[in-house]
Amino acid sequence: MGATAEILGWLKASGLAARDEAPAITSLTGGVSSDVFRVDLRTGPICVKAALDKLRVAADWRAPVERSANEANYLRAAADLGGLIVPSVLAEDAARHIFAMSWFEPAHHPVWKAELAAGRVDPTVAQAVGGGLARIHGATAGRDEIAARFDTTDMFEALRLEPYLAHTAKAHPLLAGRIEAIAETTRTARLALVHGDVSPKNILVGPAGPVLLDAECAWYGDPAFDIAFCANHLLLKAVWKPAHAKACGDAFDALVQAYLSGTTWEPAEALERRAAPLLAALLLARIDGKSPVEYLTADADKTLVRDVATGVLTRDVARFADVRRALFERLGAR
Ligand SMILES: Nc1ncnc2c1ncn2[C@@H]1O[C@H](COP(=O)(O)OP(=O)(O)O)[C@@H](O)[C@H]1O
Ligand SMILES: [Mg+2]
Repeated sequence: MGATAEILGWLKASGLAARDEAPAITSLTGGVSSDVFRVDLRTGPICVKAALDKLRVAADWRAPVERSANEANYLRAAADLGGLIVPSVLAEDAARHIFAMSWFEPAHHPVWKAELAAGRVDPTVAQAVGGGLARIHGATAGRDEIAARFDTTDMFEALRLEPYLAHTAKAHPLLAGRIEAIAETTRTARLALVHGDVSPKNILVGPAGPVLLDAECAWYGDPAFDIAFCANHLLLKAVWKPAHAKACGDAFDALVQAYLSGTTWEPAEALERRAAPLLAALLLARIDGKSPVEYLTADADKTLVRDVATGVLTRDVARFADVRRALFERLGAR
């Protein structure tokens, strides 16, 4: 049975589609690890996401299909926290690794990455993302029942710590001890509900605010991961689009300032002390890890990022601004 027939059968069984309905089911481009479909029901469009057992990237790294249920759990948990808008889960079949969610019309909800690439670098979007993330972290910090629901360290290890940090440590033997120590700090902090993939690719810019998608890596762990992961993308975009580098720097500042001023569950300095070195390690990971950014292809760009990240990693950095400054000094000099 083809994927669309299976999806339609499931939508009818779950009651989302009427028995006599034959909706158009359209596969969306852009998904890396899953099949994402738009289904045009009589009642309006919905989105269906089903997990594949192997990620569609060049390197061979597998991920458990349980990440589908994990994503649905995150979307339900984040729905009422007042942080970022997330899709509503409409139906789920955890055993088949499939769920349906509300649909955000692309015409009014462009992907943030596309906006950034086109030079529409709006610091208020970054500010809303930073503030919303802090809110999700603050509202879930110290909550045992949420910690128990997202006891997914194995999955986080397989999807994040291994491909990004362990792989990069292997590629940089002189920095391996430092990168492994950073990974260990991340691995052992159990503070709040972490999304795990806060990338502009997974954020839609909507009229009511940013919409956060793609929560497959959700984990009860170190919130520093989310802010470092997202901030990293804004630094990389500055390298990618020199004409918009200053705007990307402003967006970076707006993101981290909103986040740090919303950090309520621990001193902001303590959070930043973990996040700044992690940011440097993730910069390097996006060049030499298992999932390098596809848009930095020129050797000069890769060398610049490598030099900045390795320089920062050999020092004791405790502030986001230290990493930002190191990058922009090099960008300004070329
Ligand atoms: N609820 C939704 N409404 C509209 N578009 C969506 C929705 N969910 C996902 N998409 C689109 O599909 C793309 C891939 O979805 P995502 O959840 O990020 O899958 P993957 O895990 O494959 O990256 C998104 O970038 C977005 O363009
Ligand atoms: Mg995605």
